[in-house]
Amino acid sequence: MNNSENQNPWSDPIVCNGDTSNTVNQIVKLIEHNYYLFGGWTNAFEQVLDLTLYALNRQEDKYMETIRAMDKRAVTITSQIVGMLMKVLCYDYCIWDYLGEVYMQIASMSKSKVLGQFFTPFHICEMMAKVQLGNIKSLISKSQRENRRVSIMEPCVGSGAMLLACKKIIIEEVGLSGLDHFEFFGQDIDPVCVKMCRIQMILTDYRYMTNLLLIHAVELQNKIATANESSVS
Ligand SMILES: C[S@@+](CC[C@H](N)C(=O)[O-])C[C@H]1O[C@@H](n2cnc3c(N)ncnc32)[C@H](O)[C@@H]1O
Repeated sequence: MNNSENQNPWSDPIVCNGDTSNTVNQIVKLIEHNYYLFGGWTNAFEQVLDLTLYALNRQEDKYMETIRAMDKRAVTITSQIVGMLMKVLCYDYCIWDYLGEVYMQIASMSKSKVLGQFFTPFHICEMMAKVQLGNIKSLISKSQRENRRVSIMEPCVGSGAMLLACKKIIIEEVGLSGLDHFEFFGQDIDPVCVKMCRIQMILTDYRYMTNLLLIHAVELQNKIATANESSVS
């Protein structure tokens, strides 16, 4: 077997610093020119997120139910956007907060206050991740000695920029297999943010989907309330 046959595209990614703004502009343009097909900005963005998640989670019934109710042209646009995200995050491994940037650009065009968040610019997240993680090799050695994974928790995760930046730094410094020693947790009160984060984390973590827990803060609150009620009764 020669070297090229031996290569596994997931085993040795080059974390690129490609033309990220071009991808964002293309996605925004696709939504912008066609948002009337979705019945408004918020819908346009959420439907793209929902369909992407149904596809990634293999929720075929929900996927079919949603596309049957959509304009066919909107379905085509959505699949173009999903394809772009897959290419940059999953194949090219250009880790960056695309959806957060798309969200902010769409929010600036929309009159609705539903999309009302601002996220930390990705280069600042990268700098913060470097400071926060420190020496990654020694973090991993310590976690191996203690037979556990290093947990990274973002309590107000937004589109996941901080978690993505941590991943990027880990991969850059110790390679993709470094992620084996980490687990990522995120929560947010805004379901749109949870969806964005979930998509970007899944697409950059193909082999490690299981070490990711993302939960909508309200879901978490309900679970705690139910647990408390059952412990009282
Ligand atoms: C300014 S954004 C920052 C997001 C992300 N940490 C970043 O740096 O890009 C603040 C985030 O906190 C979330 N948030 C606000 N109150 C929250 C709460 N009580 N519990 C969980 N998330 C909350 C918002 O929905 C929003 O996504």
